[in-house]
Amino acid sequence: ESTSESRGALYNTILIDKKDRVTTLTLNRPEKRNAMSPELHAEMVQALTELAHDDETAVLVITGAGESFCAGQDLKKYFHEIRDTPAAREAARKNSHDWRYRILNHFPKPTIAAVNGYCFGGAFTVVASCDIAIAADEATFGLSEINFGHIPGGMVAKIVADAMIPRQALFYILTGRKFDGKTSRDIGFTTMSVPRANLMDTVYEIAEELKAKDPLALRACKEAFKQVDLRRISHEEALSWLTAKSDQLIRKQSQRGGTDGIESFLKKEYRPGFGPAPQ
Ligand code: ACO
Repeated sequence: ESTSESRGALYNTILIDKKDRVTTLTLNRPEKRNAMSPELHAEMVQALTELAHDDETAVLVITGAGESFCAGQDLKKYFHEIRDTPAAREAARKNSHDWRYRILNHFPKPTIAAVNGYCFGGAFTVVASCDIAIAADEATFGLSEINFGHIPGGMVAKIVADAMIPRQALFYILTGRKFDGKTSRDIGFTTMSVPRANLMDTVYEIAEELKAKDPLALRACKEAFKQVDLRRISHEEALSWLTAKSDQLIRKQSQRGGTDGIESFLKKEYRPGFGPAPQ
């Protein structure tokens, strides 16, 4: 039986639907293409903390409402509005990191990302933090940071370097070119890609398969894999380095002057998912 209605009321930016021990968490800001605002980050921390130890949840599915999976960080609410408010920025960064790496990445049960549509920038880390990622063939991926003159910060560069074929990763980082679901699978970023019409059936079939396994064994497999798979530097080191790099770049750009890519986006001068900011 589904409890989405009672749960939905708890949150403004996400929906939770429980059915036969498979829980579907939907990023639910379709009018903003499910971009991740500080509120969404705070709600994800709360929801995932609860679901991690929820007896009704054996498998977790994460997807997006409407035509988008997630348009990355909310360029307005996460970057622009709080950029001069250190305390709010600190809190948003902490929540943003916590739910994806501390909680989702180490979630005690199997997790599946169902990438139904747009997936840009910071959304790559949501996909990478899930154990399995199924993309719609028609989904659109892009490391669009270069298009507004930034690096794939937070942890994006690190997870892309870990997950993708290196030459492909750097190519998409440098060009910001879009790619589809099939390509996302070919370059190692997703597990498989299927026609959009079959996406959720495929995801729930896999969830059923996982439900039939020993949950303790699943958890141990995941922990073992993640332990041995840590590459040259730790997540903590990578996060600290990439955050510093991102701040350094912003400082240099403001010293240099010229167009601010985020401001141009907010003025609707271009779509970073599709190409660079006008100079
Ligand atoms: N941050 C804030 N608002 C966003 C974002 C975002 N990342 N993405 C979309 N929106 C908002 C738009 O501002 C617009 O709001 P409005 O209706 O109030 O004007 C609404 O969502 C719809 O966006 P459109 O651009 O009209 O939708 P469309 O379907 O044509 O394009 C697309 C969608 C391709 C996702 C485009 O909005 C885009 O390029 N977004 C930016 C994607 C991006 O570069 N993300 C990386 C962010 S940086 C990071 O994550 C580290």
